[in-house]
Amino acid sequence: MDDTLSIRKWRYATKKFDANKKVSNEDLETLLEATRLSASSYGLQPYHIYVISNQETKEKLRPISWGQSQISDASHIIVFANSTDFDANLVDNYLENVSRTRNIPQAGLKGYGDFMKSKLLDLPLDSKGSWTTKQVYLAFGNAMQAAAELKIDTCPMEGFEPEKYNEILGLDEKNQNAAVVLAIGYRSEEDETQHYAKVRKSREELFTYI
Ligand SMILES: Cc1cc2nc3c(=O)[nH]c(=O)nc-3n(C[C@H](O)[C@H](O)[C@H](O)COP(=O)(O)O)c2cc1C
Repeated sequence: MDDTLSIRKWRYATKKFDANKKVSNEDLETLLEATRLSASSYGLQPYHIYVISNQETKEKLRPISWGQSQISDASHIIVFANSTDFDANLVDNYLENVSRTRNIPQAGLKGYGDFMKSKLLDLPLDSKGSWTTKQVYLAFGNAMQAAAELKIDTCPMEGFEPEKYNEILGLDEKNQNAAVVLAIGYRSEEDETQHYAKVRKSREELFTYI
């Protein structure tokens, strides 16, 4: 209980990272594994995640991220890209994975596959995009929380130009879109915002018990 809340109180949207501190490979891999384990609707994970440590790339992304210093100073920039379109392969690849992982014949999964396809494949393109965006935000939230558990600071970021990210990272041709970004690293001692009180709606405003 204590940990549950104290970890969330420790975490804050870091405005100024210490550019000299890097996340170790070991912690990065734990963070990414936690992200990989995120739940998604039907288990389809309709997204891809880019992990950027290359300084030159980070410098290129900063001006198209409202000039925010987190992009160039953070240890790594994680770009969460949702699939903008998908077809039956999304479901078929998933079922192949289920069959392989659980060692069960694919034939027994066909009914479930047809059900998923009936729900998803005829959606209009914008609904597909909004569904995949919701899924990638779950992975994003999970990554942010896992980072806090590892005492890695983060800044969740929507303040960037997705079209330009898509261009630089070559996402359009992969039917992907940069939905949201997580800058990870370690807070600078000079970042005053780490001392700010958390501003949230009151419990009365936020919750209704029925
Ligand atoms: C999806 C999302 C996008 C955000 N985009 C930015 C951003 O571009 N730049 C920034 O400095 N903070 C950004 N924030 C941080 C929020 O302003 C911050 O989380 C909120 O004010 C609550 O403060 P706290 O996270 O420090 O508790 C974003 C947060 C979320 C969840």
